Amino acid sequence: MDVRKAVIPVAGLGTRFLPATKAIPKEMLTIVDRPTIQYIVEEVVASGIEQIIFVTSEGKSAIENHFDYNYELDHVLKEKNKILLGKELDMISNLIDIVSVRQKKPLGLGHAIWTARHIVGQEPFMVCLGDDLVYSDVPCAWQMLELYREVGESIVAVQRVPPDQTYQYGIVEGIDNGRERTHQVKRMVEKPAPGTTDSDLAIIGRYILMPEIFDMLSSTTPGHGGEIQLTDALLALSKKRKMYAYEFEGTRFDAGDKFGYLQAIIAYALRHDELGELFKVHLKDVAATL
Ligand code: G1P
Repeated sequence: MDVRKAVIPVAGLGTRFLPATKAIPKEMLTIVDRPTIQYIVEEVVASGIEQIIFVTSEGKSAIENHFDYNYELDHVLKEKNKILLGKELDMISNLIDIVSVRQKKPLGLGHAIWTARHIVGQEPFMVCLGDDLVYSDVPCAWQMLELYREVGESIVAVQRVPPDQTYQYGIVEGIDNGRERTHQVKRMVEKPAPGTTDSDLAIIGRYILMPEIFDMLSSTTPGHGGEIQLTDALLALSKKRKMYAYEFEGTRFDAGDKFGYLQAIIAYALRHDELGELFKVHLKDVAATL
C-alpha cells in the first residue's frame, strides 16, 4: 500500500529556543523568508504525500493559520494590486490537505504519534519532525518513499554522528543489507548514555511506519526522560517485522537548536534565488573583518 499521509508533531514547547518561543511556536521561526514548518510541508508535498496530520497543542494555532486561507489579507492584497504576493499566499493555503489533532499532555514523541492513530488508520504513514530540516537535491521524504516501495517495511532516516554526540539521539544498531546506504535494524536505543553503544547511526526526524506501530505504542511505557518514546515502540516493532535504517543524501539542520538554526539560515540564504549571490558577497565581507 502506498504512503499517503504524513504526521508532523508540532506540540512541543520549544524550550531550547526560549525566550523567542515564549509566544510563537518554534515551527514558525523564519528561515530566510518562510517559517521552518513550511520547508517540511513543502518537502512532503514534493514527495507526493496527500495529507498532513499536525499533532498540535495549545498556543500552536499560528501553524494552522499559516496554511489556511486568509480572506482579509487576500482582499487587501487584491485592492492594492499585489497580485504576485496574493498568488504566493494562495499557493501556501492550497499546498495540501491538512488535519489537526491535539496532544493534550506532553507525554513524549511516541504519545504524539499515537494521538494521530484514528486519522492515520490502518495504513503505512510517514512521520516528519519539525526540528529536522534536510537540504538535499532529492527531498529526503522522496528518498525514503523510494526505498519503501522496494522493501515495503518501516524505515527510519539516519545519519552518522561523532561518538560524543550519540547521547543526543535515538541510535540504531544495524547490519548492512547489501543495498547502498541501507541497514537492517537489529537494535535501537533512545539517547544512550555515553560509551554504551558502538554505533554512530543517529535517527533523524523522518520515518515511514507500518500501522502496527500504534499497537506497540499502546503498550510502550515511559522511557528516556520519563516520556513515551517512539524509539522504544520502534524497537518492539523491529522484533516482529523487518525494519530498515536509511542514510539519506543531504545536509540536516537541527532547526530547534540555536546554533543549528543559524547554520540553516546561512545554508538556505546562500541558495536563495534572489538573495543568494548578494548574501555570499556579504558573508565574504564579514569573514574578512573577523
Ligand atoms: C527525537 C527522537 C530521537 C531522534 C531525534 C532527531 O528526539 O526521539 O530518536 O534522534 O528526534 O532529531 P528529540 O530531539 O525530539 O529529543
